[in-house]
Formats: sequence, C-alpha cells, structure tokens
Amino acid sequence: ELEAVIFDLDGVITDSAEYHYLAWKQLCDELEIPFDRQFNNNLKGVGRMASLELLLARGTRSYSPEEKASFAARKNEYYKKLIARITPDDLLPGIDALLSALHEAGIRTALASASRNASAILGYLGISDRFDVVTDPGALKKGKPDPEQFFLAAELLGVPYRNCIGIEDAQAGIDAINAAGMLSVGIGGYLEGAALRLSSTAELSLERLREAFFRR
Ligand code: BG6
Ligand code: MG
Repeated sequence: ELEAVIFDLDGVITDSAEYHYLAWKQLCDELEIPFDRQFNNNLKGVGRMASLELLLARGTRSYSPEEKASFAARKNEYYKKLIARITPDDLLPGIDALLSALHEAGIRTALASASRNASAILGYLGISDRFDVVTDPGALKKGKPDPEQFFLAAELLGVPYRNCIGIEDAQAGIDAINAAGMLSVGIGGYLEGAALRLSSTAELSLERLREAFFRR
C-alpha cells in the first residue's frame, strides 16, 4: 500500500537548481575554473563540500582546507542572495495540487533535501507546514546516492520503506531511492533506473503515482 511520498527539493519543488548553478558559476569565474550547465548536472543532489571538491578538481591548483571552507561559504552567500527572491509563485507546476491530493488521501509527505537552505526555501515558497517531516541533512553520515536520508525520512514518518515513493531530479537521488527499496520517480532529463520517468513536474499526479506503485 502506498503510504508516503518523499520529495527532493531543488529541481522538484522549485527550480533552485538554477540558483545553485548561478552561485557556483560566480565562484568558478572568480577562481578561473571552467564550469557550465552541463557539468552542473553532476552536482545535482550532491552536498556543498562534495560539489566544491568536484569543481576544484577541474582547476589547476590545490587549496587548503581553510580556503575550501571559505569558498563554500562564499558560494552559499551568493546562493542565499539568489533564493531570497523566491516567492510562492515559484512552486513548480503540479506540486501544489499533488501536495493537496496526498494530504486529502491521507498519504504522508516528507522532504529529503541535501540542502542546508531547505527550510528557508520552504518558507519563501510558503509551504513549510505542508510536509509531515523535513529531514535535516546535517544529521546524515552519507549523502545521496547513499539511501540514508530516505531511510531517515521513512523512519520519522513511521512508514515501511517499500510503501514509499521518492521523487527526484538527480541521478544521485534516483540511486538513493532505489537503494532504499522505494519506488523512484524521475523528473526531467534521462535518469537511469527511475521506475517512472516524467519530463516535468506538471505530469505528476496522485493517479500516476498510484498506477506506477501498483504496477511494480
Ligand atoms: C541539493 C542540490 O539539493 O543540495 C545540490 O541539488 C546542493 O546542488 C545541495 O549542492 C546542498 O545545498 P546547500 O544549500 O546546503 O549548499
Ligand atoms: Mg534535486
């Protein structure tokens, strides 16, 4: 029985993936490290320090832990300025209706975002009270593609893993959902191993989720 839906945030609830891209782009320009939207796909779902390491590996020199910490903090300052523009109008299509339908059907909801800015973004979107559980990425030992955050969400919801669906826009996220034994829904692009692939959140509906869940 389908009991819970666990959502990624960046690229699923709102298009903050673009703001991550712009903030990293500004830092990379300053450090003269090549960076484009295509490489940015590798950073989706990947935590802040791990993303920085992937970017610095493309440069020509190495940096001290202190320098790395200051680069990560600088990127986050750029990012925080960008996300402050987010309003309830920036909810991706279909999300508001899906959250309402899930609530009415008694299906529980959780957020499993790698972002330490997730709560702030939910606030800007005006949807802080619409998730039963918001997992804290600071409480995790391992990020996506490890399933830890999806396990944590299900445990906090009190729902068996197999009765959960996870929705993600990143390969690391789909891998994490599959590793957790949940049904994976991939949004946009080509996501390997996604049980259900949708080109946009506008195609999300409770009926589609139920159908994919029972087809499994
Ligand atoms: C994920 C994003 O949701 O959060 C990644 O997909 C990002 O791009 C990660 O690096 C960490 O976000 P933050 O806000 O803690 O730097
Ligand atoms: Mg994402």
